[in-house]
Amino acid sequence: MCAEAVSATTAAKEAATKALADVPAEPGAAKPDPILVADNITRRFGGLQAVNADHLEVQRGAITALIGPNGAGKTTMFNLLTGFDRPNTGRWSFDGQPLNRVGAHRVARKGMVRTFQLTKALSKMTVMDNMRLGAVNQIGENFFAGLLGLWHKQEREVTQRANELLERFKLDTKKDDFAGSLSGGQRKLLEMARALMAKPKMIMLDEPMAGVNPALTQSLLGHVKELREDGMTVLFVEHDMDMVHDISDWVVVMGQGAILTEGRPAEVMSNQAVIDAYLGEHHDGAEHDADDAPDGESRTGGTNAEEDAIDVVDADKGQSKDNPKNDESESQ
Ligand SMILES: Nc1ncnc2c1ncn2[C@@H]1O[C@H](COP(=O)(O)OP(=O)(O)OP(=O)(O)O)[C@@H](O)[C@H]1O
Ligand SMILES: [Mg+2]
Repeated sequence: MCAEAVSATTAAKEAATKALADVPAEPGAAKPDPILVADNITRRFGGLQAVNADHLEVQRGAITALIGPNGAGKTTMFNLLTGFDRPNTGRWSFDGQPLNRVGAHRVARKGMVRTFQLTKALSKMTVMDNMRLGAVNQIGENFFAGLLGLWHKQEREVTQRANELLERFKLDTKKDDFAGSLSGGQRKLLEMARALMAKPKMIMLDEPMAGVNPALTQSLLGHVKELREDGMTVLFVEHDMDMVHDISDWVVVMGQGAILTEGRPAEVMSNQAVIDAYLGEHHDGAEHDADDAPDGESRTGGTNAEEDAIDVVDADKGQSKDNPKNDESESQ
């Protein structure tokens, strides 16, 4: 990164830190300039309360981490907020506009995009075609604009933007390759680049670093910081606390579907309930695929959900306990 970019990153970080300086570290804390405000979001799967979030505000222009044990409801929360799933109850708004019952495609058009815990790059399509799919608001989707010949202009713009992003994410030499031939880490990069095709105001990243080898992790971290530098709001799920500490301005902790606590990274990570519920289990467990192989997803997500949910009950009560799972090195 050039010197100018580094200082811009610092400026964006300083602005976010300053904006959040007086926000109390408590669940549902009001933010000075929230881009996303959610109330009473609940989602049940049969007898399981997957999400039960009273209130959440995400500060504009900041990097917010959403952490919590496996099965805490993080991915479900992402699905609900971005229109990939419907809640049982709840209202939320993005940039002042209500998003209830708005489908995923329209949510993206309004400027909120997300990536998936398990990458959704279409393996039998080329990298470039995957990028094109990420473009929304295409004039070409409009029949009359098509008649007016605007479609070709739009096509050129989409291709140009895709090329620029592929270059930025160092995937330009791969643009004619099938996405299926990329390594796990490269597919994570492709997914992030594809999300940016929509020119979003906010990007939600579900475990962008999972299964990525350490060399590519640094580059991914750099890209996430750059998003803030570009004025974007970032909400990301991550299990590796060192990464959370490194890049986030604010941390929200979920457990058993609820928001347990929030705060600045250092505050949250010194919270005993969080340590008991989460850090003890995961802090030393950050593992990466050794070879960053094409099937580099290191986990399927949610597999230990029920066991982990039990841990949070204790943490919520602030009990310190021996966690029998601490010795089990789960692959994250
Ligand atoms: N479609 C579904 N049907 C039934 N149960 C589901 C479904 N999706 C999620 N769940 C359950 O809801 C709970 C929350 O799952 P979710 O995937 O949101 O957790 P998470 O916090 O993202 O976990 P992880 O860190 O493992 O990705 C889990 O108990 C999970 O098994
Ligand atoms: Mg998840």
